[in-house]
Amino acid sequence: MKKDVILSLRNITKRFGALVALDDVSLDLYRNEVLALVGDNGAGKSTLIKIISGALIQNKGEIYLNGKKVDFATPVEAKRAGIETVYQDLALVDTLNVANNLFLGREEQVSLLGGTFKFLKHRLMEKKAQEILDTLGIKIPNIREQVKYLSGGQRQSVAVAKAAAFGKNIIILDEPTAALAVKEVGHILDLVKKCKQKGISIIIITHNLEHAFMVADRFAVLRVGKKVGERIAKDTDIDEIVKLITGGTFVVSKKGERKIKADSM
Ligand SMILES: Nc1ncnc2c1ncn2[C@@H]1O[C@H](COP(=O)(O)OP(=O)(O)OP(=O)(O)O)[C@@H](O)[C@H]1O
Ligand SMILES: [Mg+2]
Repeated sequence: MKKDVILSLRNITKRFGALVALDDVSLDLYRNEVLALVGDNGAGKSTLIKIISGALIQNKGEIYLNGKKVDFATPVEAKRAGIETVYQDLALVDTLNVANNLFLGREEQVSLLGGTFKFLKHRLMEKKAQEILDTLGIKIPNIREQVKYLSGGQRQSVAVAKAAAFGKNIIILDEPTAALAVKEVGHILDLVKKCKQKGISIIIITHNLEHAFMVADRFAVLRVGKKVGERIAKDTDIDEIVKLITGGTFVVSKKGERKIKADSM
């Protein structure tokens, strides 16, 4: 049976001046899968997901969502289509509290009688925010606290919770586990699994291949702007993915250690 494609990228090219950040990249995302998008620094991962989420516009190529061509001019348009993104540089506002961050840009969803009762609106927003966090098992001591006082892991959890709560089709996470303690990493990866159980498709970017293997069904590898491989997670291993990422070949030392020898690509 042919798998169900939810998002299809066709021949995406993105240039920044003379620099070709993405070169003719085609990639499918299937319904209800976790796709790990990996590659070295500067490979084009963030650029690609920014194009999917409407934060950047490609120079060439097309995007199809559920078979229909889409042209997201802004992130708001992608959100309307059910695509939620957590960017590498977290999109939370430091000086707003947790509840306000969760509903930032969506205040209308908790509007009461056209916003006449501001106080009630805040109470309702806090109640809903607490429900979102509770559903995902996220513990934040005080959701009225400004997010600048939260730990890195808590901030990351709030950002992912926001995506999980509002992403109807696709959730994109750019380095969600970077700089987190072991326990917090486990929590974020559990959130990814919970989102998948809800039937959502997830793209996760990470430099930590162990984390990627814990959640991913499939890998797509970018190298200097080009897609150099796709692998089903259960049919591959860290060694092979590293080799794809670096373009290197393995040299086996006398001690039997496998080291990467970079090729001239
Ligand atoms: N706004 C921009 N203006 C100019 N160049 C950019 C811009 N954004 C990205 N680039 C360049 O495009 C290339 C791809 O960058 P991108 O951020 O997509 O890489 P990445 O794979 O996400 O890397 P990392 O793992 O370090 O986050 C890099 O060479 C980068 O310098
Ligand atoms: Mg990046």
